[in-house]
Amino acid sequence: MRAINGEKFVIKGSTERLKGTLPVRGSKNACLKALAAAVLTDQPITIKNIPLIEDVFRMRELLEFLGAKIKKTGQRSFLISAGNVKKSCLDFKIAKSLRASVALTGPLLARLGTVSFPFPGGCVIGKRPIDMFLNGFEKMGAKVFIKGRGNNFTIKAKALKGAEIFFRIASVMATETLMMAATLAQGRTILRNAAQEPEIADLADFLNSCGARVKGAGTGTIVINGVKKLGPGIFNTPPDRIEAGSFTILGALLGDKLRVVNCEPLHILSLIEHLESMGVSLKKGKDWLEVSRPRYFKPVNVKTREYPGFPTDLQAPFSVLLTQARGISSLFETVYDGRLNYINDLIRMGANVILCDAHRAIFHGQTCLKGREMEAPDLRAGLTFILAALIAKGKSIIHNVYNIDRGYEKIEERLRNAGAAIERVV
Ligand code: EPU
Repeated sequence: MRAINGEKFVIKGSTERLKGTLPVRGSKNACLKALAAAVLTDQPITIKNIPLIEDVFRMRELLEFLGAKIKKTGQRSFLISAGNVKKSCLDFKIAKSLRASVALTGPLLARLGTVSFPFPGGCVIGKRPIDMFLNGFEKMGAKVFIKGRGNNFTIKAKALKGAEIFFRIASVMATETLMMAATLAQGRTILRNAAQEPEIADLADFLNSCGARVKGAGTGTIVINGVKKLGPGIFNTPPDRIEAGSFTILGALLGDKLRVVNCEPLHILSLIEHLESMGVSLKKGKDWLEVSRPRYFKPVNVKTREYPGFPTDLQAPFSVLLTQARGISSLFETVYDGRLNYINDLIRMGANVILCDAHRAIFHGQTCLKGREMEAPDLRAGLTFILAALIAKGKSIIHNVYNIDRGYEKIEERLRNAGAAIERVV
């Protein structure tokens, strides 16, 4: 596991426009679940268009620890054979470092009848409990054993049984994890109030291509008829909609016909709508977007919501735009209860923001940001600091780059190609 090291980004802010193209890599959150799904079968699984990011490397380490064989078959392709997976206990140190480790619980429980794992870690953006996973497994006939002051879990089920499960919150990973478990359960599982993010339909299509029987993924009700075994399959990782959105926001801040390419504009319609209402004009094609900075930004009110609403993962990057809008804008984060802390750093850069409570902030713009030294507290806030630094006066230094590398592949190289003054200092 890569140690959190002293790498930092040094950024020179500027009013120079960014031009050219920014290519979007494969979706982190889709790829991580396809990697977890590989454990459902003893047949070979190929995953293509893998983003080369730290969270994917950690997931690979988790799979190898369990006994899976993984071969790199191309720059962005893995061939995974989980035929030898006999271990049902996750590597606790790695599992604690990323939230997506919990996605492995469904496949391991379904395939081996038992799984042990720690409370998953990851970005510190709120409480992030796992109660809906545990309740769902219990409904499917599993027994949950909790130790270590509620931090270590073992779940056992000789055979999972189909069940009706209602999620009290439309959780992305609870939906994905129970959907994966249900593919090998006896009988029919119905997931209600399921999350509808595009990654869920992609995962279901992949599972079906391996022989699963999943219907309704991408809607609020998913029906899974369990099968005895899954076969081989190929997953082509779709473009990362959050990276596409982050780059589009950057284009609105600094673009001169900046093109975001290899993306799926249909997956970020809520962002596009908000940008247009701020006065940003965009051109869009099937797999690209072109965006330029407008003369000025109108203020806007943003409320995060489950897909297809405004994504919580774009809330922090979007806030940089709110510091530039003329007038009063508001931000309402409804998904997490600890995802506004980064705003204190924007305030230190010169933004005029009132943090009302853990969920709401009011921005008074337009403000001139000044470069600073900061630490990336989590993935999306880290990217936000890059955007803020690029429009700020003077130099900024961003520490704890690992948190950005978790989800954005060599971000500095791609941004430099578009004209940004950003260097990684080792
Ligand atoms: N929740 C519970 N109990 C549970 C599960 C979730 O209360 O058992 C709550 C969470 O605390 C949160 C809400 O439900 O308040 C929704 O969270 P969700 O479960 O949907 O989030 P997640 O599945 O843990 C994924 C992404 C996140 C993204 C969210 C929301 C992955 C690996 N992570 O998390 O991505 O913010 O969905 O879209 O897929 C990121 O990429 O930076 C990131 C944090």
